Amino acid sequence: MTQEELFKSLIAHAKEYGFIFQSSEIYDGLSAVYDYGQLGAELKNNIKKYWWDAMVRLNENIVGIDSAIFMHPKIWEASGHVGAFNDPLIDNKDSKKRYRADVLLEDYIAKLEEKMDKEVEKGRKKFGDSFDEAQFRATNPNVLRNKSKAEEVSKRMNDALRANDLDALKQLIIDCEIVCPISGTRNWTDVRQFNLMFSTQLGSVSDESGTIYLRPETAQGIFVNFLNVQKTSRLKIPFGIAQIGKAFRNEIVARQFIFRMREFEQMEMQFFVRPGEELEWFRKWKETRLKWHKAIGLGEEKYRFHDHEKLAHYANAATDIEFDFPFGFKELEGIHSRTDFDLSQHQKFSGRKMQYFDPETNESYIPYVIETSIGLDRTFLAIYSSCYCEEKLEDGEDRVVLKLPAFLAPVKLAVLPLVKKDGLPEMAREIMKDLKIDFNCQYDEKDSIGKRYRRQDAIGTPFCITIDHQSLEDNCVTIRYRDSMKQERIPVSELKQIVGDKVGFRNVLEKI
Ligand code: GAP
Repeated sequence: MTQEELFKSLIAHAKEYGFIFQSSEIYDGLSAVYDYGQLGAELKNNIKKYWWDAMVRLNENIVGIDSAIFMHPKIWEASGHVGAFNDPLIDNKDSKKRYRADVLLEDYIAKLEEKMDKEVEKGRKKFGDSFDEAQFRATNPNVLRNKSKAEEVSKRMNDALRANDLDALKQLIIDCEIVCPISGTRNWTDVRQFNLMFSTQLGSVSDESGTIYLRPETAQGIFVNFLNVQKTSRLKIPFGIAQIGKAFRNEIVARQFIFRMREFEQMEMQFFVRPGEELEWFRKWKETRLKWHKAIGLGEEKYRFHDHEKLAHYANAATDIEFDFPFGFKELEGIHSRTDFDLSQHQKFSGRKMQYFDPETNESYIPYVIETSIGLDRTFLAIYSSCYCEEKLEDGEDRVVLKLPAFLAPVKLAVLPLVKKDGLPEMAREIMKDLKIDFNCQYDEKDSIGKRYRRQDAIGTPFCITIDHQSLEDNCVTIRYRDSMKQERIPVSELKQIVGDKVGFRNVLEKI
């Protein structure tokens, strides 16, 4: 099965089992907006808890807030979002389809790279064991021609984007002879900038003065509350403010399921430090955040840093933590050293002092900020796509299993009476009544035990407990482990401890 086919099955699975639904599906859906179903909401809540506990509970100098989505419109002028939170757009006049100019060019570059890879595969087949890929790539004329073309296009695109030269972007699309994937024509409009913020009107005012925005990031809610939190918490620098919440962006190219959405959730933390100490803290947060990701247990090789060479004007260091999604390595989290840019801008636009008095140095200054910003939905996708497995069992049967880390699994254990009679359901209900206070449990008595196991495997339940006739006599049950499918008999009195040890957050939080 190709990665693309696997990704399609995963999306179908997420719908079939109540993890993720297309928003407004009965009205044919709303593009790039998704609803989390009954199991998706549980998994999402567990991810949030893991992040919140790691940030807020484990760090005495980090507190969490929950600021409003609507904010004063001047905030978005101060932050630069009104002026510069844009994507360059181009329309095809025949298909009437709209594209991001830079994405059209990136796709063109990706095609050149695919051509190079195909050429290398041809070489590998031709030369067999003696094939030297590095030498082939350095000498094959077709590979070299495509490589130099890709480099040239990439350079021209980056130069045009940096200089905000929209004519140059259009010229590059024409020079590359890029056609619209729908109409197949090169009948393009000019490139225009398109602001990604959604706007709406406040109250009854319908002129421009009433325009407010749905926040495109949660970070600004932290910046504008910086002094409120500092004064009421009496925290001293260095300290952090964390927040989890919705953000909205009118993404033009919305694709790859929940990877790029128009309404999504972020988990952001701003860490306020003394000017001059920010790069040391930047390094520390890079390390800490990578540890957090690796402790989930999806495989260390799935993560890599992508340090930014070209920095935004307000940053003096930036990196992305990239994850190996089914469609390749892509950004999962951004870590930025944002200097004092945001607080200074708010001081300027609001006219209020955003300074901190440092009792250790007897100085007042605007703190510098390290930001860690991770997409909750992207983390969901990273976990879901890594844990989704289609297996062929020894007996030839197929099984779909979601090998979720136990602490994140939506349902921790299933309680299953072997048959629907002879007092087994009653005993199972008694066990369920006790365990559901500690864990999210499911009771299931319908269908054969094999079918019930499969249903639980498919939603990632780490433990199934089966109650049989002997249980009535010896008060023992069979526990079945999802991944190994091994079964063992244990006393009911030990259930809470065995399951609790595995599904608790302690094991994971101790690693970071
Ligand atoms: N405050 C900084 C900030 O918002 P960003 O790189 O634009 O930085 C941070 O976003 C993270 O939010 C990204 O790494 C990504 O995980 C997530 N994210 C951004 N846009 C998204 C979208 N349209 N859909 C889903 N997640 C998104």
